[in-house]
Order: sequence, then C-alpha cells, then structure tokens
Amino acid sequence: MDAITLLRDDHKSVEKLFKQFEKAGDRAFVEKRRIVDKIIEELSVHAAIEEGIFYPVVRATVPDMDDTVLESHEEHHVVKWLLDELTDLDPEHERFDAKVSVLIENVRHHVEEEEGDFFSRVRDEIRRSDLVDLGELMLEAKKTAPTRPHPRMPDSGPGVPVVGAIAGVVDRVTDNVSGVAQGTVTAVQDLIARIRGQERPKVSPTGSGAARKTAKDVRTTAGAAVEGVEDTIRSIQSAASETTDAATAGAKGTATAAKHSASSTKTQAKRAATTTGRTAKEGAKKASKTAKRGKSAATSS
Ligand SMILES: [Fe+2]
Repeated sequence: MDAITLLRDDHKSVEKLFKQFEKAGDRAFVEKRRIVDKIIEELSVHAAIEEGIFYPVVRATVPDMDDTVLESHEEHHVVKWLLDELTDLDPEHERFDAKVSVLIENVRHHVEEEEGDFFSRVRDEIRRSDLVDLGELMLEAKKTAPTRPHPRMPDSGPGVPVVGAIAGVVDRVTDNVSGVAQGTVTAVQDLIARIRGQERPKVSPTGSGAARKTAKDVRTTAGAAVEGVEDTIRSIQSAASETTDAATAGAKGTATAAKHSASSTKTQAKRAATTTGRTAKEGAKKASKTAKRGKSAATSS
C-alpha cells in the first residue's frame, strides 16, 4: 500500500469515529468514552508515523514544502494537547463534549489541507514505487508507534523515530525499542537517499562531521526520552516506598500503643487485687474479734 493511500485510510477511519461521536446521545457517557479512547489511540499512532517518517521524507525530497510541513506539525501539536486533556477527562464533565468538538474541527481542517495540495505535491514529486516502500515502512512502524499523544515529546528532527518508539514501548509495554527505532531511522535515511538519486553517506567512527552530528543528535534525544521515562519510574518507586514507610510506622505505633495499654491494664489489675486482698484480710480480722466477743459474752452468762 502506498503511503498516501495509507494516510487517507487513517483519515477515513478517524472520520467514522467522529461521526459515531456526533450521533451518540447527550447522556451516552460510556459510549462516548469508548469512542474517544479509540480516537486517542488512532490519532496518536497516525501522528507518530507522519512526524517520524512521512514528514521528514517529504521535507527532504519535495521542494518548497518546509512551511507546509511545519504548519502540519503545529496542527498536530494542538491536536495532541486536546487528546492529552481528553485522556483523563470524565465524559460527564461539562467541557468534555466541547473539547471533542474542537478536536474534530481541528482534525477535519488538517485532513482537508493534507488531502488537497499537500498530497498532490507529494504524488507529483515521489515515484509510485517509492511511495509504496514509504507506505510499507509506515505500516511496520504502526505496530510499535505510541498509542498515547505525548504532546511534550519532540515531534521533528533526527531523533523522532527513536523517541516515538520509546514512547510506544512505554504505552504498549513491549521490549523491542532499539532494533525497531534504529532500523526505522536507517530505513528513512536510505529511502531519502534513493529518492534523491544519491547514495547515503557511509557512517563510520571516523565519518564526516555532519554524519557524526546526526548520530549524536539521535543519541541525545533518545537519552533525554529514556531519562524522562526513568524519572517517572523513580518517582513511582519513591511514592511506593513512602507509602510502605508510612504503613510500617503506623503498624509500629499501633503495636507500641497496644503494649502500653496492656501494661497499664496489668498494673490496674494488680492494684485492684491488692486492694481486694487487703479488704478481705481486714474483714476476717473484724469477724474474728466479733466471734471472740460473742464467745466471752456466752461464757459470762
Ligand atoms: Fe497529519
């Protein structure tokens, strides 16, 4: 399947979801949540393959497309923030439907622009066989692309396929990041070189400054993304550890309080027993005296 057909199919399936949302009743909250979750997943994957593969190839091979592609990046950026906000928004919230309506308007505008002049320029400049290879590359990348929007992550530049694949791993909990991401970067570079009709420069440890800089940029961006993921893991671990500490402290406190309470009960019982013993002894003494007095009175009478 060629790249443009693939993107048009994506647009169609998202439009189908938009229509389902628009037809859903005002109080169909469960249904609307389900549809919006599907929209979030479809648009996140679609944006990732456009930003990581399609846009870089277009910028590098189709003349005078920089401004159009940069505008598309900005439109994606706005859409990704809306998707991010919708991820955890209660469908009963008064802003939920309004936010989805603005999302739909933005995406429809973006699709209209892409399916107009943008795609026809690409078809004019890139041969069909290369568009088919580009489409295969994008179809493969869909399998590991992020399923969540990640609006704060870089969306252009040499590290984007790597960053996208890392985000995809976090979203999908798989472990095949390095092979897929690096493979995609290399395949995109190869395809660009072929479309431009020139050999891709060989990257060796003593390669050109430009090649070394590109490799360094990819490593730096990927490193930053990994650090971001590690930070999140560290804060989750730290929160878990604080919860455990609090629970241990609580348990210790309860044990100490129980010990004190047992000890105080024991003391009170001891005191009560001593008092009772003393009272019994005094009672016995009094009884003995009374008995003696009775005996002597009986003898004298
Ligand atoms: Fe797009």
